[in-house]
Amino acid sequence: MARSWIKDAINKTGEQVTLAGWVWNRRDHGKLIFIDLIDTGGAILQVVFAPGANGLPPGAETLRINDVIEINGKMAERPSKMVNLNLETGKVEFQAEELKILNKANPAPFDITDSGYEINEETRLKYRYLDLRRIRLLKNLKERHKTIDFMRNFLKERGFTEVETPMLTKSTPEGARDFVVPSRLHKGKFYALPQAPQQFKQLLMVAGLERYFQVAKCIRDEDTRADRQPEFTQLDIEMSFADREAVMKLNEEMIIETARSLFPEKRIKEMPFPRISYKEAMERYGTDRPDLRTDKNNPNELAFCWVIDFPFFEKTENKEWTFTHNPFSAAMPEWHDSLMSKKDIGEIIAAQYDIVLNGFEIGGGSVRNHRPEALKKVFEILGYNDKQIQENFGHMLEAFSYGAPPHAGIAYGMDRLITILLNEPNIREVIAFPKTGDGRDLMMSAPSEIMAGQLKELGIAIVKPKTTKAKTTKKVKSKKPSKKRK
Ligand code: AMO
Repeated sequence: MARSWIKDAINKTGEQVTLAGWVWNRRDHGKLIFIDLIDTGGAILQVVFAPGANGLPPGAETLRINDVIEINGKMAERPSKMVNLNLETGKVEFQAEELKILNKANPAPFDITDSGYEINEETRLKYRYLDLRRIRLLKNLKERHKTIDFMRNFLKERGFTEVETPMLTKSTPEGARDFVVPSRLHKGKFYALPQAPQQFKQLLMVAGLERYFQVAKCIRDEDTRADRQPEFTQLDIEMSFADREAVMKLNEEMIIETARSLFPEKRIKEMPFPRISYKEAMERYGTDRPDLRTDKNNPNELAFCWVIDFPFFEKTENKEWTFTHNPFSAAMPEWHDSLMSKKDIGEIIAAQYDIVLNGFEIGGGSVRNHRPEALKKVFEILGYNDKQIQENFGHMLEAFSYGAPPHAGIAYGMDRLITILLNEPNIREVIAFPKTGDGRDLMMSAPSEIMAGQLKELGIAIVKPKTTKAKTTKKVKSKKPSKKRK
C-alpha cells in the first residue's frame, strides 16, 4: 500500500493506512506500546501497538527513538478523554497492525525533541543532520523556502529573469577578503569565489536583460558574527532604466507583500518605510542601522527603514580614499560634477540605499555609474593608476562603452531577513549547514588538508606555520580589507 503522510492520514479515520517515519518517542504501558511517529514537516502521531491474536507485531518491543519504520494499520478516533487539542493530530491515534523496521538507530548524541538552544553549538553542528531533525529547524528550512519562493514569484511576475552567474571568477572589490581557488590549468593563477554577483549583474544590464534577479551564494572571508557567515545567500536584483525611486518602490512593495502574506502575525510599524539620511541616523541614533521598534521585546514588530544619502568616500587609516559601500555606485545627480572634477571628495553623496529592519542591515544597493568616464573617476579617486584601472576594471569600462543603459539594483541578505522574520537569535538557525564562528564545517571537517598529489598538480607548496616565522614565505600582496562600515 502506498505510504501516506501523517498530515493527510489524520483525516482517514477508519481506513487502512501505511505510514513511514521515525520513532520520536516511546512509552510502554504494560502490554501496550505507545510510540510517537514523526514524518515530514514535524507532524507527530501517536501510534499504539496492542497485542492481537498472535501477540504484539514482531519488533514492536525493540523500537527505540530514531528508528526508521513503516507501519500498516488503522487510523482511529481517540477515546474522548484522551483527546489532546494542543496537537494537530491529537484527536486520532494509529492502531498499528504490521511493523517493518527499515533501519535501527544508534542512541543520538543529544536530544532532538526540544528546541536545541541549550546544547553546545559545536556538537549541534557536528551532527547537523540530526540537529536539523528538530521540529524548529525543519520549520525554519520550510519557512526559508517559502519566503524565497514568494519573493522569486513576486519578481517573476514583474518581468524579472533569474540568471545564474559564475562561482569561479575574478576578485571583485566588495570590501572583504576573497576566498581563492587555485587553477590547475593555469598554475600560479587563482580564481576568486564571488563576494557578490555585482559585476555580472551589471554586465547583464549591458546585455539588455533589463530585469535580473538571482538567489545567489556569496562568499566572503570575513570574521563570522551572529549575523554574518563566510558563505551566505543574497536575493540579488538589478533593473535598467530605473532610478533610486523605482528600485525603492518596487522593493518596498515586495517586502510588504512578503511579510503580509507569509507572516500575518507581524505588524509593520510604518508604511511607507521611513527614509533617514546617513547623517541623521548617525546624529540621532549613533548608527547607520537604527532599531526603530517601539517595543523591542515584541517579537511581532517589524520596523523597516531606508537609510539614504551615504557619503561616497571616506579616508582610510593611511589617509587614502576608499568607497563606503560599492565602487560601482553613482553619485547623487547634484554631486555628479564634483565626482567628475574630483572636488570636495569627502562631501560627495552616493546614490546608495540600505534597507534596515529592527536594527539589522538586511539589504543594500545603489544607482550605478553607467558611463565609463564616471566609473573611471571613482577608481582614480580610490588611487588606482591607469594601468591598474585597466587591469582590474578594463572589462567593465569597455562594456560600458558599448551602450550601457542607466541601471540600479539592490541585494538582500536573505539569511538575515529570515532570521528576523522567524525570531531567531542567530543566522545559523536558518541556514541548513552553517559554519562555526571560526569558519569551520564540523560535520564535513572542512577546511582540511588535501593530498600531496593534488597540491603537486596545482603547483602549490604548503609553508608550515613554523617556517613562516623564519620569514621564508614570500609576502603575497593582497587587497586590503576596506574599512567599510558594514
Ligand atoms: P552588500 O555587501 O551590502 O551589497 O550585501 C548585501 C546584503 O547582504 C548581507 N550580507 C551578509 N549576510 C550574511 N553574512 C555576511 N557575511 C554578509 N555580508 C553581507 C547584508 C547586506 O545588506 N553587490 C552589493 C549589492 C548591490 O549594490 O546591489 C552587495 O553585495 O544583509
